[in-house]
Amino acid sequence: MPSREETSYFGAGPAPLPTAVLRQASKVILNYNDAGIGITEISHRSADAEKILEDTKSALATLLDIPTQEGPDGYKIIFLQGGGSGEFSASVYHMTALWVEKRRQKIVQELGPEDETKVFDALRKAVDQEFKLDYLVTGSWSLKASQEAARLIGANHVNVAVDSRKDNNGKFGTIPNESTWSLTPNPAHSGMVYYCDNETVDGVEFPAFPAIDSDKYQVIADMSSNFLSRKVDVRRHAAIFGGAQKNVGTTGITIAIIKNSLLTQLAKPDLLRKLNLPVGPVVLDWPTIVKNNSLYNTLPIFDVWIAGQVMQLLISKASTDGPKIATQQSESEKKAALLYGILDKYPVFHVVPDKSVRSKMNICFRIGSENDRDDKEKKFLAGANERLLLGCKGHRSVGGCRISNYNAVSVEKVEKLAKWLEEFAQQQ
Ligand SMILES: Cc1ncc(COP(=O)(O)O)c(C=O)c1O
Repeated sequence: MPSREETSYFGAGPAPLPTAVLRQASKVILNYNDAGIGITEISHRSADAEKILEDTKSALATLLDIPTQEGPDGYKIIFLQGGGSGEFSASVYHMTALWVEKRRQKIVQELGPEDETKVFDALRKAVDQEFKLDYLVTGSWSLKASQEAARLIGANHVNVAVDSRKDNNGKFGTIPNESTWSLTPNPAHSGMVYYCDNETVDGVEFPAFPAIDSDKYQVIADMSSNFLSRKVDVRRHAAIFGGAQKNVGTTGITIAIIKNSLLTQLAKPDLLRKLNLPVGPVVLDWPTIVKNNSLYNTLPIFDVWIAGQVMQLLISKASTDGPKIATQQSESEKKAALLYGILDKYPVFHVVPDKSVRSKMNICFRIGSENDRDDKEKKFLAGANERLLLGCKGHRSVGGCRISNYNAVSVEKVEKLAKWLEEFAQQQ
């Protein structure tokens, strides 16, 4: 039976966690803080749970340099359930309610508040004619998010500003130049611009913040699969979210960072219903979760604790100057460079995405040519499994191989895989 040390796991999520954190976890599950009771058994409203929440928020703010002051430019950190997918929906519900209320207030300014019917008619017209949510579709997850938006508010309100498959023979793997994007031209008509920073399935990552004027558009990012792997310009985002189960912790919590200015001035449910716009479930409602310090309903505190421990580990690794996440960023870059270096060196390997947008987290590649691909990929994966290099199979929708290079995958484990890649290539 192989040990953790002998095994290297490169699965796309759930993904490895630092062994030191798991060792500690096995202790606190039995007995937290020497209280004679385990962490999964204590109340989410206990003082211990509150402290875990506060410590985790504080560690995250330190790592990503999140401004947490009160006032419109500060941000709140919240923990929810429902995964990244839940946040696809939450962002639609929320940004729709925000857009409607802002537009209503503008109409009231123009027409005066007295004639409610007139205000409502003008608002309905504005919703019909103006309201859009913009999506940058650069891979399977942003595609899913845009489809969820269309399901909730109707496709007529969803503007796919770019679909990178159109430029690339129907396949994801590029991010077309921003000059080709068609964002809703009037930013006042756009409820948000949504993008997925790292596309887990397709191995496509934005090299930097996308070319969007974040003073004019509200930008929301899904960072589920590159959370805490690199620096983030939080201040240019209206909201950022990510499931914990790849780089941050166990499956069970989603982390969201929401700008305070988003949390007031939301259309009331009655008004949204009258406009045939959706009203989301309360457990996804950002203001409710903020108001209750993430404890509106039972929060899996153990998952928050794990995330907090992982964050503390990153902080302890960080060099003293510069943003705390910079140390992890250079390690991720180093590991990714090693793997891409070998994949580029041998013609038997073909990295799927374009060089300019290759993900540091999910490295997707094919092996061989069309007529011998199946055979070669099978052999590569079987050889990897024999060497206890596990989880390298590509997503079922893309095929081929995918190496997920998350934070808890050590340099040493990446070197082992690099050795097998090289050995395999030399056998061809
Ligand atoms: C980038 C990205 N967004 C969203 C999701 C969906 O997350 P969940 O399964 O937590 O809903 C995933 C899952 O792998 C993902 O990789």
